[in-house]
Amino acid sequence: MYGIVNQAIQGLVVENYGQDQWNEILKRSGIQETHFISNESYEDEITFELVAAASEVLKLKSEDVLEAFGKYWVLNTGYQKYGDLMKAGGNDFSEFMRNLPNFHGRIMLIYPKLCPPEFLIENLEEKKIILHYYSARSGLTHFVFGLIHGIAEMFKQKIEMQLVSSENTTTWHDTFLIEIID
Ligand code: HEM
Repeated sequence: MYGIVNQAIQGLVVENYGQDQWNEILKRSGIQETHFISNESYEDEITFELVAAASEVLKLKSEDVLEAFGKYWVLNTGYQKYGDLMKAGGNDFSEFMRNLPNFHGRIMLIYPKLCPPEFLIENLEEKKIILHYYSARSGLTHFVFGLIHGIAEMFKQKIEMQLVSSENTTTWHDTFLIEIID
């Protein structure tokens, strides 16, 4: 994945746990790079190793690291570095969700070698959404939980979200039910 993803894990750790913990995570992961370049591609393995090492060093479940990372991605990386793109995604939570399937199309203009996730939205009722997430990568379900909660927080929208099913065939496919709470 592009270096900006690994930079975000670094940002999340350094801001919340300090530089020493990050140094320890790098040491534990055995990764040689100490500095990631945002628009350079790195092996996906590096990102997964950083998450695994963060979970060991910070004594958190890897699901919790991925969720915190998803929220950080939206509220810090997305909102602070790409505010205009995030604003163009919609004016409220429902609109942002409706536009989510097209979101990474615009990101590909900045990161042309992107291997983006795919999203599909089904509106069950006015306040119930089914979100399908497809990926060439495995194991990012809790990252998606964090991302969607981050988007809800960005719009100060209370939601409930649950995983309905998970399939791992040639592509990873998670189905989530999201309820918008008044
Ligand atoms: C302006 C904000 C955003 C930028 C710049 C951005 C960019 C990226 C980049 C560079 C990657 C790494 C993929 C690669 O290198 O091949 C990625 C992955 C991903 N992004 Fe975004 N993204 C943004 C917002 C979002 C939002 C709002 C979501 C909402 C759900 C999202 C969902 C994901 C997921 C799930 C992945 C993991 C890749 C996978 O599942 O295979 N991103 N994004």
